[in-house]
Amino acid sequence: MIMDFQDKLNAYRDEINRSLDNILQIQEPKLLYEPMKYIIEIGGKRIRPILCDIFYRMFEGKKDKVLYPALAIELLHNFTLVHDDIMDDDDKRRNKPTVHIKWDLAVGVLAGDGVVSLAYKVLLMEKFSRSDQIINIFTDGLLEVCEGQGFDKEFETREDVTEDEYINMIDKKTSALLAVSSKIGAACANASDELINVADQYGRALGIAFQIQDDYLDIAGDEFLLGKTYGSDVQKGKKTYLYIKAKQKLKGNDLDKFDEIISKENVTREEILQVKDIYEKNGILDDTKIEIARRIDIAKNAIEVLSENYDTNELKAFTEYMLNRKF
Ligand code: IPE
Ligand code: IPE
Ligand code: MG
Ligand code: MG
Ligand code: MG
Repeated sequence: MIMDFQDKLNAYRDEINRSLDNILQIQEPKLLYEPMKYIIEIGGKRIRPILCDIFYRMFEGKKDKVLYPALAIELLHNFTLVHDDIMDDDDKRRNKPTVHIKWDLAVGVLAGDGVVSLAYKVLLMEKFSRSDQIINIFTDGLLEVCEGQGFDKEFETREDVTEDEYINMIDKKTSALLAVSSKIGAACANASDELINVADQYGRALGIAFQIQDDYLDIAGDEFLLGKTYGSDVQKGKKTYLYIKAKQKLKGNDLDKFDEIISKENVTREEILQVKDIYEKNGILDDTKIEIARRIDIAKNAIEVLSENYDTNELKAFTEYMLNRKF
């Protein structure tokens, strides 16, 4: 069952990659189009277009018109990654140099601009009865990601960020786009507003789980599998789920050591490993895993109402896959 779904995912991913390849032909100027093609070609799980496609087929299942909106969402996501890596000062993504490292900062900004423009162009390639609504969902989602990124940046220099503030921040920077993927899939299938609302609830819950897991993997994951700069969040003093828990739980020497490392300008690899040890020894890694599982359950519960009228098996398998991801 799990294996079957993995094969399906791989097939989806290949199809998405082929379509992106067709869209991204190198044109002039090369300094714009080469980095645009690069960020798309170096990989990625493609979970957002896959999610969009799953919702579309679950609600409609006839002719496949969802491809362009799904690709547009993946492009939008890649735009956020190029600019996120500039904001986070990261040098590695998908096991390759980030765009602003391979080229430079200006090219990183420009390539991001190019990718988001292309995202809109591709979104508008197919017409739907709910096209206005789809364009609004897409645009509101983009603005919400920017808001989330704004909070993420603001929180870097704050030590008193609460758990609620953290959840609100990740709901915007990460859940928004997963909700966009689910909702646009539903809207392209001309689903009712109630169904679109279910898609929203699901995408949001999944997104929270996804970002908490991203925080977890930053320090507890395998660097090569992850393909990103190890311990980047500790380096930047990011307010992650683990940080919030550490501030709630740590006392004495562990708290002092944690505060000392996290506030440093330059954190060594050894210090990142010390933070990992502190997290581990105080049960914070375990707490985080439990929270991820709890949030995944919320996502699963959100789609329970659909199971009477729709085949939710694929969506459930997708949700399960997200819980077990290593990158
Ligand atoms: C990374 O997203 C950014 C987050 C929102 C955490 P993904 O983990 O989906 O990145 P790719 O596209 O697979 O590389
Ligand atoms: C993801 O947050 C936010 C985006 C909107 C791209 P992160 O900054 O934690 O994502 P990664 O870890 O760099 O992929
Ligand atoms: Mg980042
Ligand atoms: Mg970031
Ligand atoms: Mg991260």
